[in-house]
Amino acid sequence: MSRMPVLFLASAALCLVTGTALGIAMGIAHDFHLAPVHAHLNLVGWTTLALMGLSYRAWPQLSESRILAPLQFALSAGAAVAFPFGIYLSIEHETPGLAIGAALVFFAGTLLFLGRLLPMLLGRSPAPARLVAAE
Ligand code: HEM
Repeated sequence: MSRMPVLFLASAALCLVTGTALGIAMGIAHDFHLAPVHAHLNLVGWTTLALMGLSYRAWPQLSESRILAPLQFALSAGAAVAFPFGIYLSIEHETPGLAIGAALVFFAGTLLFLGRLLPMLLGRSPAPARLVAAE
């Protein structure tokens, strides 16, 4: 089986652990000025990457391209990590360059994801895989 789903899910879990730790630290310190970093680690990182990984698991044909699947992972997971760090740099040092660049890369990953789903919408791909293993 392809490693794409677990690559997405492991990256998502990394963002979840980091984002949750930041949320706990913010709560303990009662200092919420990094809340946008926490929110984007959890929503762009954990939620979006996990949904992409589960999509790759449900539709294994998404993993079939040896170029487009790894490219979509690299764009999405790379930017999902870089973007919150860019937000941090923007808040702490007023340097928004990384946040802007990473947002554009993440957007490219979402466009590629949509582009790879369209053939299924047009009926050129088989039904989703069963998520429960056959007995
Ligand atoms: C143990 C887990 C978590 C802790 C301790 C935590 C803590 C916090 C804290 C302290 C804030 C700031 C509240 C404020 O500004 O008044 C916050 C905001 C937020 N959190 Fe979490 N959080 C956790 C998990 C999550 C998860 C799993 C998600 C999303 C999947 C999430 C999404 C958000 C969002 C969207 C905001 C609003 C950010 C903003 O207003 O800029 N959080 N969280």
